[in-house]
Amino acid sequence: MLVKAARSEGRKVGFVPTMGALHVGHISLIEAAVTECDCVVVSIFVNPTQFGPGEDFEKYPRPLEADLDICRKCGVDAVFVPTPEQMYPTENITWVNVEKLTETLCGASRPGHFRGVATVCAKLFNIVGADVAYFGQKDAQQAVVIKRMVADLNIPVDIVVCPTVREESGLAVSSRNKYLTEEQKKDATLIYKSLQNCREMIEAGTTDIGTITTDMRKILSQAPSIQIEYVSIVDAESLQKLDKIIGKVLAAVAVRIGPARLIDNIVVDIK
Ligand code: PAJ
Repeated sequence: MLVKAARSEGRKVGFVPTMGALHVGHISLIEAAVTECDCVVVSIFVNPTQFGPGEDFEKYPRPLEADLDICRKCGVDAVFVPTPEQMYPTENITWVNVEKLTETLCGASRPGHFRGVATVCAKLFNIVGADVAYFGQKDAQQAVVIKRMVADLNIPVDIVVCPTVREESGLAVSSRNKYLTEEQKKDATLIYKSLQNCREMIEAGTTDIGTITTDMRKILSQAPSIQIEYVSIVDAESLQKLDKIIGKVLAAVAVRIGPARLIDNIVVDIK
């Protein structure tokens, strides 16, 4: 109703989909939406269909009151907090499968994850009916997948991607950083160090991707607590593997540290 009324009055409606446990990364998206739109909706829904067996669905943090407080303080107009039963009232047999883009990076190690993300985002876009939706570069593959989904399915929403918010140490802010001890958090700063090293190597003219990723792995290996899941440099749009640096590339890292799975990335565009 709120969104329909706003849109009928020609007001621009912004939407920020989240799983809650809001932190400064989420807040940056909300602030962008509040700045650029006349009416802002945030959703908080820990989406069961994007978690695999043995992942952290049950223990994912759900501090609802604190989240609502943050939304109020940021000037959000409405918060949508559905239950799993409301989002999936019957067995879900209709899925959005974005091919190719979901086969690499996190898609390779989290089968079904992007099917769950794309499906819930399509549902949320239909429910909320916003003009523009905000996503974080932190989840680079997710942003590429959602952009392609709305293009392929003609979903009438613009996708805006906002920069990754980092701690002073360089560590990308994430709800999953809560799972880390102080020591593990220190080790986790090697993730961004490896990405910065990658940028420096590319800017210095290194084009062989094997050479760059070997160096990145060496940096990550400085902390025995880090288990590397992948260190990849791919085309920033197709997300396909490359041998040589060409055009705009996405360097992406996924690691496990203790109980947490952490991801980070940078885009490097050498003209
Ligand atoms: P969630 O992990 O809660 O993230 C919600 C949004 O915040 C995503 O677009 C994510 O990229 C962005 N974000 C998280 N950390 C960030 C950071 N440090 N800097 C900038 N943006 C950041 O991503 C999801 O939820 C879900 O998959 C969802 C899209 C809500 C579908 O269930």
